[in-house]
Amino acid sequence: SEQTFIAIKPDGVQRGLIGPIISRFENRGFKLVAIKLMTASKEHLENHYSDLSEKPFFKGLVAYMGSGPICAMVWEGRDAVKTGRAILGATNPLASAPGTIRGDYAIDVGRNVCHGSDAVDSAKKEIALWFKPEELNSWKSAQFDWIYEKP
Ligand code: GTP
Ligand code: MG
Repeated sequence: SEQTFIAIKPDGVQRGLIGPIISRFENRGFKLVAIKLMTASKEHLENHYSDLSEKPFFKGLVAYMGSGPICAMVWEGRDAVKTGRAILGATNPLASAPGTIRGDYAIDVGRNVCHGSDAVDSAKKEIALWFKPEELNSWKSAQFDWIYEKP
């Protein structure tokens, strides 16, 4: 089943939103397979957002993301990448629907609380960047058969 990289950004950690954000993924039925608090280096963040290196906001983005600890996670489940993005909402919180994380907790695109991989390929790249293979837990949730009709 599919895995996605979800990270609570430094503003989300500072604002006490780790619990509420984790709850949204848990409540939906996704399974947590890795989690850690990490203050990321400039090099690490430039690698993470390498596809945005030409953007005018890149320097500010790397400074924001390095300004404090990030709660890095891997969540697993059916269509986890696309559904993770839907749970996050649009990049610009003013355009995010209420009921999404950004639509409920953020206002400014430069302080949008949470990251989610945008494709299965980038999820694989990001999981490998943020976690060692042995940090990924393989386990069967006791809820599995109550969340999925068929495995
Ligand atoms: P992530 O999940 O963080 O990757 O966001 P995203 O995939 O919804 O958007 P994208 O990858 O295009 O941009 C990465 C991050 O850069 C966004 O989440 C914002 O925090 C920031 N960002 C994007 N566009 C702008 C912008 O126009 N201005 C500023 N200040 N920040 C931006
Ligand atoms: Mg992105």
